[in-house]
Amino acid sequence: MKRLTDILEQRISQTIQTVTGQPDCPALVALSKNPKFGDYQANGVMAAAKKIKKNPRLLAEQIIGQLELADICEPPEIAGPGFINLRLKDDFLETRLLKINTDNDRLGIEKVESPETVVVDYSGPNIAKQMHVGHLRSTIIGDCIARLYEFEGHAVIRQNHIGDWGTQFGMLIALLKEQHPHILENPESFEIADLESFYQDAKSKSDNDDMFAQTAREEVVKLHTHDKDTMAVWKHIVDESRKHYLPIYRDLSVTLNQNDERGESFYAEKLASVVDRMQNKGLAVESDGAICVFPGDFKNKDGAPLPFIIQKSDGAFLYATTDLAALRFRINELDANKVIYVTDARQALHFQMLFATAKLAGWTDDKIDLMHVTFGTMLGTDGKPFKTRTGGTVKLKELLDEAVQRAAAVVEEKNPDLPENQKKEIARVVGIGAVKYADYSNNRNSDFIFSFDKMLAMEGNTAPYMQYAYARIKSIERKATGKDVDIQSELTGITQISFSGEAEKDLAKMLIRYDQAIAIAAEECRPNYLTSYLYDLAQTFSHFYNACPVLKATPAQRPVRLLLCDLTARTIRHGLTELLGIDIVEQM
Ligand code: ARG
Repeated sequence: MKRLTDILEQRISQTIQTVTGQPDCPALVALSKNPKFGDYQANGVMAAAKKIKKNPRLLAEQIIGQLELADICEPPEIAGPGFINLRLKDDFLETRLLKINTDNDRLGIEKVESPETVVVDYSGPNIAKQMHVGHLRSTIIGDCIARLYEFEGHAVIRQNHIGDWGTQFGMLIALLKEQHPHILENPESFEIADLESFYQDAKSKSDNDDMFAQTAREEVVKLHTHDKDTMAVWKHIVDESRKHYLPIYRDLSVTLNQNDERGESFYAEKLASVVDRMQNKGLAVESDGAICVFPGDFKNKDGAPLPFIIQKSDGAFLYATTDLAALRFRINELDANKVIYVTDARQALHFQMLFATAKLAGWTDDKIDLMHVTFGTMLGTDGKPFKTRTGGTVKLKELLDEAVQRAAAVVEEKNPDLPENQKKEIARVVGIGAVKYADYSNNRNSDFIFSFDKMLAMEGNTAPYMQYAYARIKSIERKATGKDVDIQSELTGITQISFSGEAEKDLAKMLIRYDQAIAIAAEECRPNYLTSYLYDLAQTFSHFYNACPVLKATPAQRPVRLLLCDLTARTIRHGLTELLGIDIVEQM
């Protein structure tokens, strides 16, 4: 089904154009601020009236005289200086609900008419370092964006731009060769149990031991010239690192896998030609020995033009060079129409300069949209950047384990009699869900305070609240139909419904808005629009359930109420599991 707001926007805009003779007078349809005046309102008449110098109220009257919306709304009303208020008809709502009911997979939501190829670049852990909480936000926000675009029908290409090629590899390879001289004969015999300490050891050795530092530098050269042995050790380190982060993606229900990896090393061979290209076009110049592009109006503190450095004076390429090569690849080889980068806000300048450079070079035109999706810092409950008690960075794995443990304690307290394996599953689902949902429900640009107590609370906009809302509806359904009856068969049998009160209609109006919540969340890359919607839906359901008994409904009331219950459950389930990657349980 077409989105209701799109239908309204299109029809009203068309009428405004017919009446005024003016193109480009959008109807500006929005949800009504106050339900007293209707469900939706069109706010565009005032601007149209101004254009043709006409009294807006008179124009509004003319427009509603010609509007054809009788299949959707009660007769429109005019308010204030020229707002058009719209109230949905019962039978329109009823028909929509029935249509949603018959579409199990997509809940009646159409795919976009012109799908695009969307590259989503997210997670990007750095090899040989454990993933820490800083990577959590990119990983899960990016994953939600990829899921949203995919659901809308776009061709999504996930790209995990892992840091697998920096100069730090020199010291890592040197250390590995030194500690395990037989590594090449028998690589399987060696595992990096603790990546972080392996990295730290290499770092302190290269800081304190000149001989070692020299060997490390030589290893960098060998790596860049593809020395066979060095490459083998490098590959081993990358493989070992992968063993640490792939399970975390799995635990988090993040859809990235090894095929999505296209790390910095992939672009190594393409960097020299990027620099050549920029120089040949006259866009890159030498400045203090380095090769730089000066795109746009970027200035440093002193007002001097800011360089986008693509090659250092010693010949080394940089993060910027790799990103230019990656962008070319995405445009030329992956055929991307849109590239979305998900990193913390501290990289904002880098991406602004990257995009400006690409534009300057003529790589991007109006058809290619580049977007940097930023997010703030994760803070501890003390308001300072999130750290362990001893001031170290918190490892992601430990954080998730603690969330699950704490969730287990809550389950034990609330539901001690459940079978052990069920308690364990609930703890896993709630613990991981809580961490993800807390992040999603936060405006991504704000810093956000990581608090186990808050995210595990049963009240408020949290994962456990939403998961419980779902389980509660499923339990209502079980009670309503009795043990042996399959609710789906009763629901498919419903072909006609009619409302008997406002609470039912309020819930129905909420349900048919799911498509809009998804569209806005995707367009702005803001998962919190989706979580807000789901939370509003759960609350509207509570009002409905308090006002309208389902178990004791009369035979006339039963079909619509049962359907409203089930569509609410399915919408929550879809939002959580398909779009946010948060698991649910049928019973809590
Ligand atoms: N590895 C990078 C970091 O840890 C993130 C990569 C982001 N993507 C990109 N194309 N630069 O900061």
